[in-house]
Amino acid sequence: MRKLWWILIVVLALNLGAAAAQDVVGTPGADGIGDPFYPLLGGGGYDVQHYTLDVDVDMEAERIDATATLDITALQDLSAFNLDLYRLEVSSITINGEAATFERDARELNITLPTAIAEGDTFTAVIEYGGEPNPIREASLGGVGIGWNFERDFVYTASETNGSATWYPVNDHPADKATYTYIITVPAPYVVAANGVLQAMVTDGDQITYTWEMAQPMASYLATVNIDHFEVNAYEDNGVSIRNYFPASVADNATRVFATQDEMVAYFSEIFGEYPFDQYGAVLTRAEIGFALETQTMSLFGVYVADGSPQDAEEVIAHELAHQWFGDSVSPASWKDIWLNEGFATYASWLWFEHTEGPRAMEQIASNIMGYLSGDYFRQQGMTEAAISDELARIAAPGKPSENDLFNGGVYVRGAMTLHALRLTVGDEAFFEILQTYYDRFKYGNATTQDFVAVAEEISGQNLGELFDAWLYAPETPELPE
Ligand code: ARG
Ligand code: ZN
Repeated sequence: MRKLWWILIVVLALNLGAAAAQDVVGTPGADGIGDPFYPLLGGGGYDVQHYTLDVDVDMEAERIDATATLDITALQDLSAFNLDLYRLEVSSITINGEAATFERDARELNITLPTAIAEGDTFTAVIEYGGEPNPIREASLGGVGIGWNFERDFVYTASETNGSATWYPVNDHPADKATYTYIITVPAPYVVAANGVLQAMVTDGDQITYTWEMAQPMASYLATVNIDHFEVNAYEDNGVSIRNYFPASVADNATRVFATQDEMVAYFSEIFGEYPFDQYGAVLTRAEIGFALETQTMSLFGVYVADGSPQDAEEVIAHELAHQWFGDSVSPASWKDIWLNEGFATYASWLWFEHTEGPRAMEQIASNIMGYLSGDYFRQQGMTEAAISDELARIAAPGKPSENDLFNGGVYVRGAMTLHALRLTVGDEAFFEILQTYYDRFKYGNATTQDFVAVAEEISGQNLGELFDAWLYAPETPELPE
């Protein structure tokens, strides 16, 4: 009899538990994560913690077949949520092992949860998908293919701003960072260069599987997978281990051109704070891309960077490395804050020249850039004032870039001059303390322009509202402080 009572109590308790779980009445997460420039990018109501992307690559058919496993935390009582996925076909989705229904709507993948998930609980989504990735061609990004790109006999992946959805289902916005495991299978003897640390390389017949682990949080636009007949160039002289992936055809030159990255890591670690990741390096693509990209721990460059002299390449190499602190570790809270990436990386490359060539180098750069931003450069070319004002009107105020021209030169050079103006205003000591404090406070996370301004005011003890308003938002570039 006593035994029966216990059984009854246990059965009752289990039923109550089940009833409590069913009590969660969720609502769907928002359509987008809330970016003013890209209202539909990402989704609301959840936070991806980790992506495991198991991708079989068919280099002949130029298609991928993949399983994405996402560990997700609900940020509200959740009944449905949406990821971004561009074109590729989805064959099945499970949530915690139970089949889920889903719909496609342009680049949205809307998933209905089989059972609502309570705010704060985590769940696992497994998505089987595949097809031929279609790079996104956006005029605002110069018309290059953003995302996963199959070329004739190699692959490169460059996704800033919204290209990651071309190869995996993703909350495609820097505000939702996550860690990653890639398990990428390619025909032997192809080599895979991706973000993080190479954990394993397993050959099975004529296939090789590369496992890469990105252990620190990463914004989705920084995810990269590159496949080619790479030679690996590795060294470790200044404390951080460097591994570069160079196509065999340019490996000799590239080894020379990229040889000072460890010294740059040491210098930036000294002035910004410790290098945020486990390793660093460059991967070179044979594709004709007109830009380089700060893909986390493995910056992407076109092979042409290796063709010139080491001096010419230094600026872009320093720029992409500096992004590992500003852009990758501290990421913009929204895309309109892009100057926090580009202005900082540009200024950092000037700081590298100041470090290697002396203070005159910085003065020279600053005066050249001011000549350009003030129109004097164009005046010397003999342009009319009307033509000059047209020219200057095309240079964005860094704090309010146009959403159709996010990577406008003003974001880079006037953004960098904003930092120089701050430095001249507060002095070197406060300036570097501002950079370090801002970095330390927001590393592995996100920041807004207001966050940076607040740190600058706090450390300097000055009211800097006017300075930043003039440099970041006024149509005309102000004069440099004395
Ligand atoms: N973030 C890159 C840089 O370091 C710019 C990439 C611009 N192009 C693009 N397609 N997103 O300058
Ligand atoms: Zn940049």
